[in-house]
Amino acid sequence: MLIRLLARCFLATVTLVAAGCGSGGGSTPSSGDPEADRRAELRVAGSDDKGDSRTLYDRLGGEPGITAIVDDMTERVIADPRVNFDRTNVKSGWIGTMYRPWNPSPENVQRFKLHTVQFLVLAAGGPAQYSGRDMATVHKEMRITNNEFDAMVGDIKASMDRLGVGAREKKDLLAIVETTRKQIVEKQ
Ligand code: HEM
Repeated sequence: MLIRLLARCFLATVTLVAAGCGSGGGSTPSSGDPEADRRAELRVAGSDDKGDSRTLYDRLGGEPGITAIVDDMTERVIADPRVNFDRTNVKSGWIGTMYRPWNPSPENVQRFKLHTVQFLVLAAGGPAQYSGRDMATVHKEMRITNNEFDAMVGDIKASMDRLGVGAREKKDLLAIVETTRKQIVEKQ
């Protein structure tokens, strides 16, 4: 009787441990941040994590593939009033001073694109060097809200939709973008 009871307890423990291990899916977060992955997952339905073991950089078609996404999304975000990319009419500082809006001159747009490509190439596992500033420093005092950030994420997704990027790659790139939210959003 006692032996049968012990055997039953042992079996129950093994089953619980196995279930516990299985519930995490055993997969590593694609962006290194489970919360960022979860948000990206919610935006892109039907992505399939199995199969192709290449880096995201390779799956996106290397630097040309990432450059195409950045070119398309840059035009979109600059034109999107929900993002207010140039930060017009943004109050910053204690005494109601205004943030000096960013000038979308061809040189500035070019620099933004170059640094964003370098940033994403690096984050996606590619070989490039990032020569821009860190995310918190660049966006300091822009008073970016979660809603503005969400609108920009939507624009990036729209660019990838237009370019026919696969569901898994969309999810992985959006998860990378999500990891920057904490450094960029200043105002809730
Ligand atoms: C609502 C969201 C955002 C707004 C309004 C915004 C705005 C800006 C502006 C105005 C600049 C130019 C700053 C300058 O040259 O002085 C800039 C630079 C930059 N942003 Fe953002 N940004 C946003 C989100 C993001 C996100 C999600 C990423 C990452 C994927 C990102 C990556 C960069 C990079 C790499 C640069 C260039 C840094 C440099 O030149 O040193 N931004 N951003």
